[in-house]
Amino acid sequence: MNILVLGGGGREHTFAWKLIQSPLCEELHVAPGNAGTAKIAHNAALDIMDFKEVEAYVHEHMIDLMIVGPEAPLCAGITDYFEEHVPTLMVVGPKKDGAQLEGSKAFAKSFMNQYNIPTAGYLEVTSDNLDEGVKYLKSNPGPYVLKADGLAAGKGVLILKDQATAITELKSMLSGKFGDASKTVVIEEFLDGLEFSVFVLTDGQYYILLPEAKDYKRIGEGDTGLNTGGMGAVSPVPFVDQEMITKVRDRVILPTLSGLQDRQIDYKGFIFFGLIRVDNEPFVIEYNCRMGDPETEVVLPRVKNDFAKLCTALFEQDLYEIGLEKDERTAATVMTVSAGYPGSYEKGKQISIDEAKTSDSLVFHAGTKIDENQVVTNGGRVIAVTSLDTDHHKAIAKSMLSIKSIDFEGKYFRGDIGFDL
Ligand code: AMP
Ligand code: GLY
Repeated sequence: MNILVLGGGGREHTFAWKLIQSPLCEELHVAPGNAGTAKIAHNAALDIMDFKEVEAYVHEHMIDLMIVGPEAPLCAGITDYFEEHVPTLMVVGPKKDGAQLEGSKAFAKSFMNQYNIPTAGYLEVTSDNLDEGVKYLKSNPGPYVLKADGLAAGKGVLILKDQATAITELKSMLSGKFGDASKTVVIEEFLDGLEFSVFVLTDGQYYILLPEAKDYKRIGEGDTGLNTGGMGAVSPVPFVDQEMITKVRDRVILPTLSGLQDRQIDYKGFIFFGLIRVDNEPFVIEYNCRMGDPETEVVLPRVKNDFAKLCTALFEQDLYEIGLEKDERTAATVMTVSAGYPGSYEKGKQISIDEAKTSDSLVFHAGTKIDENQVVTNGGRVIAVTSLDTDHHKAIAKSMLSIKSIDFEGKYFRGDIGFDL
């Protein structure tokens, strides 16, 4: 089978690393990929938002299975496009309707409301009901959570302590602070608790529950400073016990799947449930229509199943026969990033990796590329270093040691991943 992975981050390098271990995988292609995927697969310099260009590549290389990493092509309808133009291609990732779970916060909230899925109370606001929005903020003790309805590259959520600032920000969002993405704003009740994430791979009816994870989003140690795509992650999550997983299954996963069926949304792909534990109950903070990054870097190393087989099972109606085989060890990943990230940063810094000294870890490339035979930085998040061990202390310590043997100018990482566990 020939497989094409779309995307070029740490998530996609991890997918590729896992896929090449499968006897089902003949040729592996990654578009656009990075310096890590270049070593183990064919990188294709495609614009993954140009579906015609991707289609030509799919025909040329006789691709059987395509796994879509990021949300943007899913929300733009790549799966619908291929269903129409190349119906024989197996595409892992929902169509536009299912991708709305991530692509529209207002859609996700009304979906959760309709199917009684626990989530924070909310109000949907546009310029037409701004007064109602202001009243909602005034009647609320804060902190104030304002979310741009649409995709805003992870920047569309504001959490504010001050009521007057929240009102000003609401107005600025509605008048285009995040472009069209914030023409509708969801104001949410603030939930205080510990966050974790749960992932399923589903064919729309059955699902496989993947290992849960917790990521560290802020740039600074002690979870301070600006939000990033993710600075590290661990799996399993010590405070998520079997009782919590059962609650998540019964109150979140099953109602979500039956809600999708009720709305006749045919969903084949990953669902990422961003959750928060409040008084030992799970609440949904967000849905994503894809795997997380860097969560994938700790989730997949703990999955022993053949990943290509898991993906094809979505189309062969045999997902229900497959049980997850899980590595019971703890995986921890630590992300190295470019100086200045998540603000502006420079690219093109030479990267050196001492492979002998990192051999206890898995080195997943994110923002890297090959330039004149040299591996150089090509993004804010550069390389994720994952290690497995009997507990998170040991796994994190291993990653920290390996990171010392990866160098590039301006390298930064959080030294405190797992500090709160
Ligand atoms: P989201 O993009 O919806 O996941 O929001 C980004 C981050 O904002 C989450 O990971 C949480 O840390 C925080 N957040 C979002 N919604 C809430 C909420 N209702 N209460 C508290 N924190 C929230
Ligand atoms: N690490 C969070 C995400 O992938 O959305």
